[in-house]
Amino acid sequence: MSVHKAVKKVTTHQLREMKSRGEKISMLTAYDYSMARILDRAGIDVLLVGDSASNVMAGNETTLPITLDHMIYHASSVIKAVERALVIVDVPFGYYQGNSSEALRSCIRIMKEAGAHAVKMEGGREIRESVLRVLSAGVPVMGHLGLTPQSIYKFGTYTVRAKEEEEAERLIEDAQILEECGCFGIVLEKIPAHLAKKVAESVSIPIIGIGAGPGVDGQVLVTHDMLGITHDFSPRFLRQYADLNQVMTDAVGNYIKDVKANDFPNESESY
Ligand code: KIV
Repeated sequence: MSVHKAVKKVTTHQLREMKSRGEKISMLTAYDYSMARILDRAGIDVLLVGDSASNVMAGNETTLPITLDHMIYHASSVIKAVERALVIVDVPFGYYQGNSSEALRSCIRIMKEAGAHAVKMEGGREIRESVLRVLSAGVPVMGHLGLTPQSIYKFGTYTVRAKEEEEAERLIEDAQILEECGCFGIVLEKIPAHLAKKVAESVSIPIIGIGAGPGVDGQVLVTHDMLGITHDFSPRFLRQYADLNQVMTDAVGNYIKDVKANDFPNESESY
């Protein structure tokens, strides 16, 4: 008889409980089946199918070009690999800002076609109506404030946001609006650590930081950056846990050498 050990899945409800008991939440990006499988089996709590796939997977300069179809393709690959983690999918630029019906249509496609567990949208009060409409359909929504890469052409730069009092106040209010709407969590990107801590203390939903210091409820990084696969991106907030770029370059170099020397395949690798 085979004993199948049931895996306890991470839910939005559990993330809230983790915040209540002070247990930090771990989150990383994933865009494909193989990587998602490794991350899930390593015990990650949340996988984000980020629209950073536009940069990391497709080589675009910004997140703006990625389409809803692309996101659904990435998300459905990730979902197939995951047994435990909560999978959140970014709603890409241009598929929710127009009006709340469009937002709802996009999110329903993400949930139905990819099998996602939740969605993430960038912005505060300006997308309130869309957030409410999507939530009313039973789709869990995560917010994203601070540096919101879909607005890069408005900001003009990727530098730290909300350093001025007025923007900081507005950000705190936006976090409270998103909580009141019913969002289950918020990503805070690239803002001063003291402000992020203040936000985390002023709401009861989990705040996940990227470049937002240690005073929040969890951390997210782009997997390809923290594994050192991407070498051309090294902001201060990034801790690189491996140098897979070097590991892979060496491995491929050795393979090329072996092929050229007719050293691969050998007898035991042949039929
Ligand atoms: O798209 C993404 O990877 C993100 C993270 C940086 C939070 O939104």
